[in-house]
Amino acid sequence: MRIGLLGFGVVGRGVYDLTAAREDMTVVKVVCLEDVTLPDAEVTKNFQDILNDDTIDTVIEAMGGLHPAYEFVRAAIEAGKNIISSNKALVATFYDELIPLAKEKGVAFRCTAAVGGGIGWLSELERARRMQTIEKVGGIMNGTCNYILDSMTRLGLTYADALSQAQALGYAEANPTTDVEGIDTWHKVILSSNIAFGISLDKDTVPAAGISKIKASDVANFTAHGFVCKLISTGKCVDGKVSAYVQPTLVKLGEPESAVPANYNLITLVGSASGRMSFFGQGAGRYPTAYNVVQDCADVLAGKSFYAPYGEKVAAENTDLLCYYVSGAADAWLEENKKESWGDAIVTAPVSVEKMHAWRKAHPDAFIAALAE
Ligand code: HSE
Repeated sequence: MRIGLLGFGVVGRGVYDLTAAREDMTVVKVVCLEDVTLPDAEVTKNFQDILNDDTIDTVIEAMGGLHPAYEFVRAAIEAGKNIISSNKALVATFYDELIPLAKEKGVAFRCTAAVGGGIGWLSELERARRMQTIEKVGGIMNGTCNYILDSMTRLGLTYADALSQAQALGYAEANPTTDVEGIDTWHKVILSSNIAFGISLDKDTVPAAGISKIKASDVANFTAHGFVCKLISTGKCVDGKVSAYVQPTLVKLGEPESAVPANYNLITLVGSASGRMSFFGQGAGRYPTAYNVVQDCADVLAGKSFYAPYGEKVAAENTDLLCYYVSGAADAWLEENKKESWGDAIVTAPVSVEKMHAWRKAHPDAFIAALAE
């Protein structure tokens, strides 16, 4: 395999290092905007140098962001090159365009590192789905949020201090919005659901609530009631009806999710034959992520193209009824649906996920957390 590598940041450098000693794959050209010299690869600032090189059969996209990653990936598919990407935003956003195009052109498209970083989650899902019906996917898919929530719970930090620590350690970005508002997890559960259920989820029907409004007093409330708060994604397919959402969730102390430390991920599937299977590991970082990019190269060499058939567009129907903890805002609807008070906060009687997320949108200062089913 002759590889053109787009991007030489955290992941790109890791891919270069991990492929260096291999005989079955070689990074021959790297697109990098900085002045770097590499012993075994040509460095260029111009993507056309990779696109027009007929000896390159595979493009690894490790740039991140939507543009120009999308334009480069699309052009590479059109040129008949396999694609391996670690970019969940790119794959989730342009799923309906890039996956059918790759299938039409007969090239492979893999993106295992896009969900779960160092956990081979999507390739495990690929194996799991060929033996059984997948009923549910989801779990803890964002290391930054888990680090913040874990630090607040175990060390008693405020949200601001926990976020600062996550930034100092390089987990959270200077602008943490994508992680803390649940957008990163949203991309990951959409992609996972598409593969698990063989569909293309209508993204507008998948709500996401993040953790940015959580306070130390909320965490004290959870501890007092025997719960731990985690940002949990859910994708379900029951009798053809799909539901999908991202939300802070209160899990009982003792449940596997409650024990996930620091910036780790715990991603789960429920299959009709296997029952529950969970995958734990590092959701980010140079070598864990690069490991799965290089695994994808090995899978392409073994003839694996994409994880699942491309399926029809499906709208999520989030009619599941759940009880919610709510703090930081109130109104008549909430009062009507109140089951009990936890200090200044309330816990609702069962309400639909759809209704609760619509209410939160209208009350942006509120913090909501579902009580796990
Ligand atoms: N920002 C992501 C996280 C990195 O914190 O999990 C990997 O997608």
